[in-house]
Amino acid sequence: MSTHFLSATELNRGQVEELFLLAQHFLDQPKAKSRAFDRVIGLWFQEASTRTRVGFEVAALRLGAEPFAITQKKFTERMSVEESFEDTLRILSDYSDLLCVRGDEDFVDKLSLSSCPVINCGNGDDEHPTQALIDLFTISQFFDQIDGLRICIVGDLRHMRTAHSLVRTLSLFDDLHLDLVSPSLLSLPQQYLVPRTGKNNTILETEDLESVIAKADVIYMTGFAPKTPVGTFDDAIRQKFQLNSQSTAKLKDRAIILCPLPRIDEILPEVDVLPQAKYFAQSKFGLSVRMALLDRFI
Ligand code: CP
Repeated sequence: MSTHFLSATELNRGQVEELFLLAQHFLDQPKAKSRAFDRVIGLWFQEASTRTRVGFEVAALRLGAEPFAITQKKFTERMSVEESFEDTLRILSDYSDLLCVRGDEDFVDKLSLSSCPVINCGNGDDEHPTQALIDLFTISQFFDQIDGLRICIVGDLRHMRTAHSLVRTLSLFDDLHLDLVSPSLLSLPQQYLVPRTGKNNTILETEDLESVIAKADVIYMTGFAPKTPVGTFDDAIRQKFQLNSQSTAKLKDRAIILCPLPRIDEILPEVDVLPQAKYFAQSKFGLSVRMALLDRFI
């Protein structure tokens, strides 16, 4: 593995499976010994985050590491501009044994300046690779294997970085069928569709959730960023891409509904009581996956 973990393209299937074994180990034994014990973990989040920031902080605490969090670059009224990303990165990486970084822009090209490993916790609209590992680990908790599943990914696939990293990671597996459901304006950019080592995988792009929902093993609701045109669509159009008591009526009994959260209106609260609703369990599994990531990359 590379020093940093920046993209879902960096892990092969064997490495993903090794990480899942480690995540399972920490799930079964939350107090297991870790390479991260007594090490300093910096959480540099330039965008708001609940699950990823707090999740990595709690994961670090559980491993006996020493986390610190920073959410802003240095700026005071005596400075005409805030301190640069590059200078802040140099300082924080010198103070840390590992950095978890989120930014509203793509910062990946600047990371050669870091003196410690960096985990990408979301770089603009591009990727959110740790979320994809949490998503797949959650799927592996409910199905014997990921190979062969039919997975329906719904929302703004153009801008939502969770979908980008998920599709890239899924393409390591075999015999999958992906239903990519979005308004055509917001379909998945081609660069995220490049197949990797998986075999016999098929993809259908559609705007019609109703036509595919009954066949899905996994429904992944990635939502809509408020800045996209869908934010201005009327309720009738938003409902076409929404899970509610009506649209979920055709779900298979053994299907699972996942969502990276937070949600806006892509899953109505009435869905939370369904046995298929696993998004809060998914968020909880995130802790052991993050423990595995810290242990592996520090
Ligand atoms: N899923 C996710 O990235 O949530 P946060 O934005 O709260 O970290």
